[in-house]
Amino acid sequence: MNELKRVVLFLPARRGLRGRVTIPGDKSVSHRAVLLGAVNDGPLTVHNFLASADTEATVAAVRALGVRVDVENGSDLRVYGEGWEGLREPEDVINVGNAGTLIRLAPGLVASCPFLCVFTGDASIRRRPMRRILEPLARMGADVAGRGGDSLPPFAIRGGKLVGLHHELGVASAQVKSCLLLAGLRAEGETTVVEPAATRDHTERMIAFAGGQVRREPAAGGAWSVSLRPVERLRLRDIRVPGDFSSAAFFIVAALLVPSSEVVVEDVGLNPTRTGLLDVLVRMGADLEVEMTDQSGPEPIGRVTARSSLLRATEVAPDEVPNVIDELPLFLLAAARAEGVSRLWGARELRAKESDRLASMAALLGGLGIAVKETDDGMEVVGNPGGWSGGRLESLGDHRIAMVGAVAGVASSEGVWVEDADCVAVSFPTFNAVLEQLGGETA
Ligand code: S3P
Repeated sequence: MNELKRVVLFLPARRGLRGRVTIPGDKSVSHRAVLLGAVNDGPLTVHNFLASADTEATVAAVRALGVRVDVENGSDLRVYGEGWEGLREPEDVINVGNAGTLIRLAPGLVASCPFLCVFTGDASIRRRPMRRILEPLARMGADVAGRGGDSLPPFAIRGGKLVGLHHELGVASAQVKSCLLLAGLRAEGETTVVEPAATRDHTERMIAFAGGQVRREPAAGGAWSVSLRPVERLRLRDIRVPGDFSSAAFFIVAALLVPSSEVVVEDVGLNPTRTGLLDVLVRMGADLEVEMTDQSGPEPIGRVTARSSLLRATEVAPDEVPNVIDELPLFLLAAARAEGVSRLWGARELRAKESDRLASMAALLGGLGIAVKETDDGMEVVGNPGGWSGGRLESLGDHRIAMVGAVAGVASSEGVWVEDADCVAVSFPTFNAVLEQLGGETA
């Protein structure tokens, strides 16, 4: 029997979007806090943990590895790590659902453990490239085997004694870098990952916060080299997860596109390896204010104010892509309302996300009547400052595409229908409630 998928109509926000909101915890930081907490020396409290399908899959995975995790006071987690020695062989396959970060990071965590772990996920996960983690983990000393000649899930890892490696990433990816750094924490000697462009550095910050030594140096041609040595113990006690910038971004862009809007997002993560969208939007003429409010923890936290703006076209080139990777669909939507022709290139990686996001965005924008030219690694968008009337979007179960469709709806004159709108629960189960708090309406 087919599952019933809910279709939601996101109506135009005729009176503007106005108000002050906080956004649930950062997905990337929540995943990492639970994974590092699972091998920490003693209990770790994770404040403002994101409750979502993806991050709950990470809690289930570490429980399957024998780690106790309790939920306290609603949004705090207590993870009872006892070092790597506390991990046990899971009794069953670990199914990550739709969580790409989990299926790329957890193998690094268990690569030194002398037992078998089998990983799989939903249909989208089973299409995502895994050779990029399995091949270097095998070179470090783990036994690996996966579908499609060790390139796709399901795959199995039998951990072993690891040696550090020097690895150059073919594609800039924080997930692959993090996987190898987690394995490097238990490998003999130094592990170095060279990334062609800087990617999000939450793993490095959290390891340093736990007492590990991570070295980060510029390398030739804009690349970065990240190195670490093994640690005896990780000493984490409390982590405060900031609001998720990638989730906040939907309301920031919505405020720019909808007339008479002013949206203030409080307590949002402002890690500079995540906020590239703000630079892109400022180039487009966006009325934005950014203030840091707390720099005491590993992740900077602050406030972003966004007001309705007339936008002009811009270009996003390959060196900027990793820093805006999850917000590129929103950039393309903003480009659809800007004066002039915007261009994105060097972003082929978007085709290997929860959906093929270049194809998904070409379909969404085309359906709104915007002229686009999809290329192998990007898109050209001919902006129409006059906007669009409305349309219907197939989200393909991709949470970020569904939320871009919702923003397109509130910024339209007649509304946008989003199919399978409940998939937002992958990263942002309260998306509709926050939108309504700001004056958005659904039907
Ligand atoms: C993530 C890294 C990015 C991003 C994903 C989360 C992470 O993936 O798209 O949503 O938490 O490390 P890649 O590093 O593979 O580009």
